[in-house]
Amino acid sequence: MMATNDIDNIKKRVDELRKVISEHNRRYYVENAPTISDYDFDMLMNELAALENAHPELSTPDSPTRKVGSDLESDSLFPDRDRTGTAAPDETRREFLQYPHRYPMLSLGNTYNIEEVEAFAERSGKALGRAFTFCCELKFDGTAICLTYVKGRLFRALTRGDGTVGDDVTENVRHIPSIPQELKGSGYPEEFEIRGEIYMPYAAFDRLNEERLRDEDQPFANPRNAASGSLKLINPREVSHRGLECTLYHILGENLTFATHDEALKSAVSWGLPVSDKRKICRNIAEIEEYIGYWDTARKSLPFATDGIVIKINELAYQKELGYTAKFPRWAVAYKFKAEQALTRLLSIDYQVGRTGAVTPVANLQPVLLSGTMVKRASLHNAEQMQLLDIHLGDWVYVEKGGEIIPKITGVEPGKREPGAEIPVFPDKCPDCRTPLVRDEGEAKYFCPNTDGCPTQIKGKLVHFISRKAMNVIAGDATIEQLFNLGYVKRPSDFYRLTKAQLLALEGWKDRSAQRFLDSLEASKKTPFEHVLFALGIRYVGETTAKSLARHFGSIDALMAADRETLLAVEDIGDVIADSILDWFGQPGHTEEIDRLKESGLKFTAEEANAPLSSLLEGKSIVISGNFSVPRDKIKELITANGGKNSSSVSSRTSYLLAGEKPGPEKMKKAEALGVPVIDEDEFRRLISVPPEQEKAGEPTLF
Ligand code: IVH
Repeated sequence: MMATNDIDNIKKRVDELRKVISEHNRRYYVENAPTISDYDFDMLMNELAALENAHPELSTPDSPTRKVGSDLESDSLFPDRDRTGTAAPDETRREFLQYPHRYPMLSLGNTYNIEEVEAFAERSGKALGRAFTFCCELKFDGTAICLTYVKGRLFRALTRGDGTVGDDVTENVRHIPSIPQELKGSGYPEEFEIRGEIYMPYAAFDRLNEERLRDEDQPFANPRNAASGSLKLINPREVSHRGLECTLYHILGENLTFATHDEALKSAVSWGLPVSDKRKICRNIAEIEEYIGYWDTARKSLPFATDGIVIKINELAYQKELGYTAKFPRWAVAYKFKAEQALTRLLSIDYQVGRTGAVTPVANLQPVLLSGTMVKRASLHNAEQMQLLDIHLGDWVYVEKGGEIIPKITGVEPGKREPGAEIPVFPDKCPDCRTPLVRDEGEAKYFCPNTDGCPTQIKGKLVHFISRKAMNVIAGDATIEQLFNLGYVKRPSDFYRLTKAQLLALEGWKDRSAQRFLDSLEASKKTPFEHVLFALGIRYVGETTAKSLARHFGSIDALMAADRETLLAVEDIGDVIADSILDWFGQPGHTEEIDRLKESGLKFTAEEANAPLSSLLEGKSIVISGNFSVPRDKIKELITANGGKNSSSVSSRTSYLLAGEKPGPEKMKKAEALGVPVIDEDEFRRLISVPPEQEKAGEPTLF
């Protein structure tokens, strides 16, 4: 039997993995700015899946192993009340209407390992017990799209969303030239869906990023993020300038008559739909391996990104027979290529200070072509990583593109090292303000502790303060640099004291740009408290933490008054975050800054609760227990949004116990003893439901 603390440790690791994976999913699908490579992400998922398999009692329906990542722009019930928009007209993403998918939009099981492809082929052979073929295709590295054609016309385009509900991007998709508005030829079904990938070829990606750098916008990390970000632009017409392409690979519908996947795709071509011609029918694993081997090299000369090969059972009747798991089809598997590598020379190392004071070593490289772009710089992460790599100046190094904006160095070629090559010395002082660097226990990174005095950190914090997810003020990094260098803005509150006359006296400022900047600052005063809290740049207080703090405390005054224990009682706040908050508010300079920001009219209290959706639950007190198809917070929001009250324990005054999967036995017992009705999620949804006919008619739903 397993010792209790072993299982405790496993549970802790499972919780941690779920949290980390969800955060990476958010960064990938919503932010379009991943911070780890696909490979590293997949390794985390594999670890979680292995733990859940070994300990089924730890699996939950909302585990990332059982859900596809979500690209939904808003997870709020009140999307349009989320932000006060002061957005640049064409760049900011908007809230999209959401529609349910007729067929769930699943992901693919993937592997980096050819033996697992062999196992897939064997498994399928055994399950089917008769002759069949495979259709091998490129795995396009873009963003998934689901197009519905009705009577030959493009009716709707949805993103994958969370797999159940997608964002309606039809208007934007109408501006992608390769997607026909109207089908040609004949014989297409009256209504069908065709799914595929929207992607951005390298050439368009490089052009876009050059433009963004010129305009002082953050460049996209990779073509996939650029495609996904472009698809969600607020101005549909702008989409046509982004050079997006589309390739389609999966037809769905009722009563389709195709015998094979290949045949279905051939028909799609005849209707004018964009389908790749790189697919191949394979009869056995040897042919699959040949296809994989060929494309592992040949993909490097394709004008767009591919991250693997998809192997599908070709016969549609057999696909149906094999069916689906909750997340993947059993009739297909993805073999992923490991990130492309390039070998080049390390010329020198810069040590860069970030907004939080972390010092990152960045390598200057002899320029080298990698996945279609020229790479000149690469991250070395931290001192430990440099040591692990045993890196020497002048070394030949392997560079890889992960999800990060700059590629990373993953290895060195010691055989090519020149005699006498020097080991780089990590600085012991901040390269900017010369303050001695510190390394906290358990941290891999060195930090400059001069948080409020180091110019690079101050500028970084100012940039963060006005960024889109914070105060959302329209200004580029160069503006901050200019205002800081002139001594006009040293801390966030200085922004709100700028005058037009001051701005007009600066080089390059015209009446229009000055007015736009001031208007944007003025509008930012309406930014909700949770974003203001995030904007303050307290270490470890990211968007989500800021949101839960704002919800929990309701005002900055209440938050400032909280002691350690009170902070620890907030969901998701642990020792590290609590200490960081206490430390931040403990500095007199910070409380004075908050006073100044208050004077400028920024919001330091949470808005009144959102107006109810309905009063269907008025007077009802509901206790929830167990897991639901959506996070528990959503259920709580639904209760209050419909006029009900959510309470934590069952009493005689409880109207319902809403029990999800695996409800707490104590609560169930108590409800039974007190005669409190127990309802499940379906019954609950019926209590607050929009009439089902409306849903069928394709009305947007909240989830
Ligand atoms: S078939 C039921 N074929 O890769 C899933 N997917 O990592 C059917 N993808 O969700 C998907 N190229 O967005 C399929 N040739 C291809 C693909 C492809 C890229 C994407 C797709 C999928 C993801 C899984």
